[in-house]
Amino acid sequence: MKKRVAILISGAGSNMEALVRAMARPGYPAEPVLVLSNRPGAGGLEKARALGVPTAVVDHRPFGEDRAAFEAALDEALRPARPDILCLAGFMRILTEGFIARWRGRMLNIHPSLLPRHRGLDTHARAIAAGDSQAGCTVHEVTAELDGGPILGQARLDIRPDDTPRTLAARILPLEHRLYPVVLERFARGERGRIELAVEE
Ligand code: GAR
Repeated sequence: MKKRVAILISGAGSNMEALVRAMARPGYPAEPVLVLSNRPGAGGLEKARALGVPTAVVDHRPFGEDRAAFEAALDEALRPARPDILCLAGFMRILTEGFIARWRGRMLNIHPSLLPRHRGLDTHARAIAAGDSQAGCTVHEVTAELDGGPILGQARLDIRPDDTPRTLAARILPLEHRLYPVVLERFARGERGRIELAVEE
């Protein structure tokens, strides 16, 4: 039985697209059942529709500071799709402990840094400012600690002297698109060990 995967996005959805395309490969142990955005204008929604994946929008704005009510609406939108696994893919809302507890062991996130370095935002600028020699991306299980759950996979590259936050982001995004499908495939098969993706740019 394939695992049913819901993908949560807020923006362009390029990681979502990489996941959906990978899941279409023969023998892949998971299938996309829903793409859900908290932003009605997210470009990823159109991409998901073009890929034939059902979409839903739960706009966070009417809920203001009431995160629990927003997440109750998320639950409501997710329930009919009966997902086994949630993949956060550029989903830019912080989730409460209650929601995370309900999905414990079943929710993944991709983060554009070599965790545990540079949790949170502006990761590429911070990696350069810190003088890091390497940067990359991480797929991890989501726990109540922000960007702090068990690491399932990483891909890394050397930061070049002339890299800017923009060039670094552009170099790392294709690694994200390779890493996330590999980690999801393993995760869907029940493998929880950590992998390092070999990278040739
Ligand atoms: C990706 O770089 C992802 O790693 C990052 O947002 C981008 C989404 O792009 N996620 C985070 O920063 C999470 N804290 P996409 O919408 O094209 O996949």
